[in-house]
Amino acid sequence: MYSEYQHLIDLSDYPVEWWNGIADLAVDIRKNPEKYAHECDGKIMATLFYEPSTRTQMSFQTAMLRLGGRIIGFDNPATSSVSKGETLKDTTKIVSSYSDVLVIRHPVSGAAKAAALTAGCPVINAGDGGHLHPTQTLTDLVTLKVEKGRLDNLTIGLCGDLIYGRTVHSLCKAMSCFNNNKFVLISTPELKLPSYVKDIILANGCTFEEVSSLDEVIGTLDVLYMTRIQKERFASEEEYLSQKDTYILDTKKMTHAKYDLVVLHPLPRVDEITNEVDRDPRALYFKQAKNGVFARMALIMTIIKNQNPSEILKGRVYEGISCSNPHCITHSETYLPKSFRSNGDTLLECEYCDERKLI
Ligand code: CP
Repeated sequence: MYSEYQHLIDLSDYPVEWWNGIADLAVDIRKNPEKYAHECDGKIMATLFYEPSTRTQMSFQTAMLRLGGRIIGFDNPATSSVSKGETLKDTTKIVSSYSDVLVIRHPVSGAAKAAALTAGCPVINAGDGGHLHPTQTLTDLVTLKVEKGRLDNLTIGLCGDLIYGRTVHSLCKAMSCFNNNKFVLISTPELKLPSYVKDIILANGCTFEEVSSLDEVIGTLDVLYMTRIQKERFASEEEYLSQKDTYILDTKKMTHAKYDLVVLHPLPRVDEITNEVDRDPRALYFKQAKNGVFARMALIMTIIKNQNPSEILKGRVYEGISCSNPHCITHSETYLPKSFRSNGDTLLECEYCDERKLI
């Protein structure tokens, strides 16, 4: 199924050169912001935030304002007609007719792709449930380019909630496109990285190891990407409490790290990095959040200018088959075609949330 517009749902929908070029553009914007002050004069960006956000929402809004554009939108669906039962399809169709680019965050996996199916303008995925967060990854790439000077030959530790961590999924997919990156996946058995992301790392020619101790590996890392254990993604309070506080980065652990380690975190943090670590020059998560504005400026101006058609659904509907992920958008927006990619003779992958299903 084709759309008239070019959307950003997943970085891997595009060649590496495309999104790496956006990260390079962001680095230039960071140096020369005044050069870009009128790139979006007269344009309107809509932000539909069905889930709470500080950084993503405000950095998108700041980005558009700094490009000379204007903004509309909601940050609480309860104050919009979503609360009256309006579908994602109708909300998207209407708001995209008011705007030149639409940015959506949603608590359900696959929601951005679903929105792109009916939008009358480009759609940007600002985080869909526990699935993907491609603009956080652009932010992370900009930070690594600036702080490490490279995106290859890195040992990257990812620590905490790897199963529901959408920032982790998008980052692993992107960083595995560069030579000789090694991933150290630090989590409890319950919060391991999904298999489909591990398969992408291997298919792209990179390697990973799975460990449970941060102390044992911190000295080997060039990058440490800490994540929050996300209370909102667990089925019960009990499950959340059993995982909470497993990994805490403190100044003692930092004494075992390389002198040029880069500590990143998409934020918000709860207690997984102590406040004392903020004073360590290797703690770069606040700079990282600031880079989000430049990354999003680069993305908005690129996507608004390049209105090429894109293929959104590439697979097909299989009679009687639906996605087995209860957090997939196809269960709440039931009009959506339940489309799957075929991966071998017996494996189907949901086109919205990437959940796998044996047939
Ligand atoms: N990193 C990130 O997505 O933060 P917010 O949830 O505050 O947008």
